[in-house]
Amino acid sequence: MTPREESIHSRRLWAAPGRVNLIGEHTDYNDGFVLPIAIPLAVTCAGRRHPDDLVRVSSRQRPGEPVRLPVGTLRAERDLVPGWARYPLGVVAEFARRGHRTDGLELEFDGDVPAGAGLSSSAALCCATAVAVRDLCAPSVADRELIDIARAAENDYVGAPTGILDHAASILCTAGHALFLDVRAFRETETVGYEQIPFDLSAAGLRLLVIDTGQTHEHAGGGYGARRAECAAAAEALGVGSLRDIGAPEGLADLTDPVLYRRARHVVTENDRVRAVAETLRGGADPRAVGPLLSAGHISLRDDFEVSTAVLDAAVEAAEASGAYGARMVGGGFGGSIIALVDTAGADRVQESVRERLAGMGFGNSRTFEAVASPGAGPAR
Ligand code: GLA
Repeated sequence: MTPREESIHSRRLWAAPGRVNLIGEHTDYNDGFVLPIAIPLAVTCAGRRHPDDLVRVSSRQRPGEPVRLPVGTLRAERDLVPGWARYPLGVVAEFARRGHRTDGLELEFDGDVPAGAGLSSSAALCCATAVAVRDLCAPSVADRELIDIARAAENDYVGAPTGILDHAASILCTAGHALFLDVRAFRETETVGYEQIPFDLSAAGLRLLVIDTGQTHEHAGGGYGARRAECAAAAEALGVGSLRDIGAPEGLADLTDPVLYRRARHVVTENDRVRAVAETLRGGADPRAVGPLLSAGHISLRDDFEVSTAVLDAAVEAAEASGAYGARMVGGGFGGSIIALVDTAGADRVQESVRERLAGMGFGNSRTFEAVASPGAGPAR
């Protein structure tokens, strides 16, 4: 085999992680701040080029024939392919739409990021595709564009109106760090907009537990779009480009609609909490100090933004009552996971108490794991 044939025929492996957001929920599409870490659960993509123009995608989680489409028809044919395959095909279509080279491809996916748990399994799928296609076909594409490509696949091809948080986290996060992302600065400048903040809880005798309640949020897509629209309406009523422009709740005094007021207050106070958590971690203070900010974030998501559920609230309450320094729902809401900051020595107690509480509500299949700040997307290690 010539070296060219070799590169076409041998499969290589990439991985892209899911994420949890320490703090900064529903701030990304308001041009604000977020602070995610990548988690040790990932989507992998085994891929190679083919000397034709067909894109073939298959998934170990969806046994059956691979989905095969010519590159040129990816956009037009999207409604004909199964839901899961729209994510990777959307990524390839977006590469092509932007004029990047895309050869015939074979992409096989596997992974352990639970779907519907608020841990960004769909962004992990898009980002695993994006890093694979970049390395196989278009190596000059920079990380920033890769994030845009992955997000565009979800927004325009799948029709999920997400912000930038999940894709930025999956691509940019690094092991042992939380990613402080200033969404506006990241959008508007080429060189700044994010910072890697050391995040090592084990040195402080702590753990961050992620508890997937088992209440999936897949049927609640409309709630997310409604919140986005409310935030846009609040910004318009206040005469600002985005809620990022409001520095403190006093700046919301002119909002007469009580619902829009509460939505906007969540965004303004959440941005403050992100900055406060980042400041605490940067300064090397005891990370336990972050706990009350996490819990305050939950209350704001529950009461002002109204994206929590009775199940998420109960899980947070049980975690706090059994010794967590702070706990909150993560992701878009309407189901999914919570995080809890706990002493290593007390982790089992918290886990067990949340598990029992959820089982009592009919959610006997909750799962707990530890969120250690893990590497972002790239060749699988
Ligand atoms: C979902 C979206 C993100 C972000 C979060 C809420 O995960 O995909 O863009 O808006 O909800 O913080």
